[in-house]
Amino acid sequence: MEYFVKSGNPEKQRVACLIVGIFDRRSPSPAADTIDKASGGAISGVMRRGDMDGKLGTTLILHNVSGTFADRVMLVGLGRERSFDEAAFRKAVAASSRALRATGAIDAASYLTHLPVRNRDFQWNVTQAVLTTEDLFYRFDECRGAKARADIPSPRLERYTFDVPRRSDLPGGERGLAEASAIATGVRLAKDLGNLPGNICTPTYLAEQARKMAGGSGIKTRILEQEDMERLGMGALLSVARGSRQPPKLIVMEYLKGPKGDKPIVLVGKGLTFDAGGISIKPAAAMDEMKFDMCGGAGVFGTMAALAELKLPLNVVGIVPASENLPDGAANKPGDIVTSMAGITIEVLNTDAEGRLILCDALTYAEQTYEPAICIDMATLTGACVVALGSHASGLFSNTSSLGRALLTAGEQIGDRAWELPMWPEYGEQIRSEFADIANIATKGAREAGATIGAVFLQRFARKMKWAHLDIAGTAWVGKKASGRPVPMLVQYLLNVAARRGEP
Ligand code: BES
Ligand code: MN
Ligand code: ZN
Repeated sequence: MEYFVKSGNPEKQRVACLIVGIFDRRSPSPAADTIDKASGGAISGVMRRGDMDGKLGTTLILHNVSGTFADRVMLVGLGRERSFDEAAFRKAVAASSRALRATGAIDAASYLTHLPVRNRDFQWNVTQAVLTTEDLFYRFDECRGAKARADIPSPRLERYTFDVPRRSDLPGGERGLAEASAIATGVRLAKDLGNLPGNICTPTYLAEQARKMAGGSGIKTRILEQEDMERLGMGALLSVARGSRQPPKLIVMEYLKGPKGDKPIVLVGKGLTFDAGGISIKPAAAMDEMKFDMCGGAGVFGTMAALAELKLPLNVVGIVPASENLPDGAANKPGDIVTSMAGITIEVLNTDAEGRLILCDALTYAEQTYEPAICIDMATLTGACVVALGSHASGLFSNTSSLGRALLTAGEQIGDRAWELPMWPEYGEQIRSEFADIANIATKGAREAGATIGAVFLQRFARKMKWAHLDIAGTAWVGKKASGRPVPMLVQYLLNVAARRGEP
């Protein structure tokens, strides 16, 4: 399907489906009012009969509306005009796209993007409309049998136009469309990788995908093998991988399209392709969901793909430590002490706190190899973060308040939110070890502030970097479906950085 941005009169659109909004209490939006007048009261008639009162998220499809050139006119409930906010906008678009998908229409023109949303412009409307629609139309059928796949009906919709009020809104609308398309590419990739099962999406598979990303895109891929990690002294990462038959990979993707000599922004993502917990094995219930434990890595892949599509003039490096966490004769045992690449010794008191073990060596590798201007890691790190924030916000931690604020703002802008949690020095005392430099879990207050404990552990390894950590345990998948988060937040952040750099 292809998206377009146009500016035209609704009654003149020659399309299979025209989409207009109705506010609560049967109050038509301007586009709906135009159609009502052109048709001699078709819409007010329907409302009078009680078939559409404007309740948010409801839809009604009318056929053969006179005075228009459209085969169908879809009415979409918008809720109260005074409370029409960002969430309502997305809900209305989602409802209309869902209803549209169920029709036989091959093209559509939506006027929902005319609706003013407080503090947002029409560029924002177009971006959100495209992202919401793409999210809704996403399917993952790669693992169904050939027969089932052949039976999947192909979508009929081919062209979807989002209209903007004035011709002067077109450039903004086009920009919104281009940004949304790139973000959607990244989100799709992150969802696909996340949804794949652990026996297919192994560290080796992720490395192959990274190689595929290189080429025309401007991305250069390098894969560090086990021997390389041994040479570098990545004892923490390697200790996790020892519990598995799959060789670990440290995947590095370089996109260097910014000014030469500019220190890069480095993105690090946890690529734990299956987390059984290791010797501290997890309970069986919902363990299948631990195939999603590589969603931080998938977020890095998705962000790099979007960046390449947008051709942003930035230096960005993606690093994905990839491993499984399984119980084996050679696996980490509670009480084992390993030496990280940074030289910090770690007592592994719980082998299920493995994410921080693979990430700490990736952070040290990032710091020593790139001296990053900024380093952002993302990881499905703690169940505690799910308890704290649920699926609505990722947990954010940063040692640099301006960086934290920039990420929070980007998330608000694009609708992929985070919420900052504290990382005060007092928490650091909770990972003291009796025998090593630090422990990989809290040795005091074991049930307290788990998301922060994971963050303060990682902080020890971001010694000289402006660094932020996103705990995406609650947001990277919802139910049994990958969400593609935090790709939108990161791409928006990079767009904002590029825009600021572009200023004189
Ligand atoms: N990948 C898990 C975190 C997780 C659990 C994410 C459930 C989403 C849902 C991580 O490796 C883990 O097991 N963390 C432990 C840490 C604990 C042992 C300190 C956890 O959260 O229980
Ligand atoms: Mn774990
Ligand atoms: Zn894990």
